[in-house]
Amino acid sequence: MSNTLPAFDSFIADMRTIWSREADTLRRMELSRDRLEVLVRDPTLQKHSQSWPSTEGRKNLLLHNDEEFGFVVNAVVRVPGRFGSVHDHAHAYTAYGVCYGEEYLERYERLDDQSKPGYAEIKKTSVTVGSAGVVDLVPPWAIHAEQGGAGRSCAVIIRSERLVGKVLQHNYDPEAKTVVQRSGPEQIPFSLTV
Ligand SMILES: [Fe+2]
Repeated sequence: MSNTLPAFDSFIADMRTIWSREADTLRRMELSRDRLEVLVRDPTLQKHSQSWPSTEGRKNLLLHNDEEFGFVVNAVVRVPGRFGSVHDHAHAYTAYGVCYGEEYLERYERLDDQSKPGYAEIKKTSVTVGSAGVVDLVPPWAIHAEQGGAGRSCAVIIRSERLVGKVLQHNYDPEAKTVVQRSGPEQIPFSLTV
């Protein structure tokens, strides 16, 4: 018998059903976002997240890496007031579901014509407040930053495919007006055991 948190086990089973039934990545991610909303509102998952370790230092907890369908489920645990870098996730879709505390998702717009290597002018266009139970879907190439709230916060993240070790992502410095390519966060395998 599995000793994984039942709410997470059934989430992964439903995710695999969604990915087996739908072929289109956007459609898969829209349905996954709705299912993630149910997961991050589950009281057993919310309670479990209180014991998750901090992911400071460019780390992600790796909760599930789906060998068959290629999607990845990560978690992040932010310390109070955590400052997040401005980045994209290349061609992948990402759904962020806050399960504990409060986070802020900043969205940016690119202003220059992208003709000068290493140069990028960007402008913040919106900030979405994410509290426990709120899920945000970030499309491919969207420039954004995830910022911590006043207290500790946790989020479960679905990525439409694994990027780390395969694809580089962009990292932006709005003040210096620079852009660099780098690998995503270090993946720390972590099981939601009970
Ligand atoms: Fe992100």
